[in-house]
Amino acid sequence: MKIVMLGCPGAGKGTISKQIINDYSVPHISTGDIFREAIRNKTLTGLKAKEYINAGNLVPDEIVDQLVKERLQKDDCKNGFILDGYPRTIEQAKALNSFSEINHVFNFIIPKEIVIKRISGRRTCPKCKKVYHIEYIKPKKPGFCDVCNVELVQREDEKPEVVVHRLEVYKNQTTPLIDFYKEKSVLFNIDADRSVEEIYADVKNILG
Ligand code: AP5
Repeated sequence: MKIVMLGCPGAGKGTISKQIINDYSVPHISTGDIFREAIRNKTLTGLKAKEYINAGNLVPDEIVDQLVKERLQKDDCKNGFILDGYPRTIEQAKALNSFSEINHVFNFIIPKEIVIKRISGRRTCPKCKKVYHIEYIKPKKPGFCDVCNVELVQREDEKPEVVVHRLEVYKNQTTPLIDFYKEKSVLFNIDADRSVEEIYADVKNILG
């Protein structure tokens, strides 16, 4: 089971990935989470990635490709993985193709205005990375993670002007991947403007 989650910022890729890992024993590999962790820990990768991420731009391909290639060589990826946020450019898709073969690409389709509402209300647990929404997916205790009881945070790249730029970057650099994977017959379109339960039921049906 080698899955790619494709879709614009805020489409719900991370949320559905967390559902998948509850039912299937594959790791959830989010390049965004890896970079945010690296930034928090002030590693060399974090220092290199920080200014791109905070401006809503993509981190250069060579940095991301190497990072993912190394991550996929780890033992926990033997039975498969979920790649969330990678690939994001045709060059990254070609690089991935050279070191792994993908079976399912879920393409999350959602209107822009819904995405902006979702991102502006998102809150994330800095410890377990569980994602909430102040209106749609509330934690039991307001402001705190249900699992870790740690205070939820907003991301640096959630400022409205950065979100608008991230959506442009997605349109220009990532949407060509839809045709790339359509040609490989592994693309599944998902209507992401529905409840988490409805979306996940579709995904599960496809995965079998
Ligand atoms: P990344 O972290 O990958 O962000 P993204 O792709 O922009 O996606 P998001 O995490 O914003 O959204 P999501 O689709 O996961 O939605 P979520 O489930 O959180 O990347 C960040 C940055 O890192 C990039 O801009 C780039 O700089 C860099 N980067 C990462 N990968 C890279 C790469 N490969 N190449 C180069 N640079 C890279 O949901 C959003 C909100 O909606 C949440 O609040 C959630 O609770 C809520 N929600 C979700 N589903 C539903 C639903 N069905 N109904 C109601 N609410 C919902």
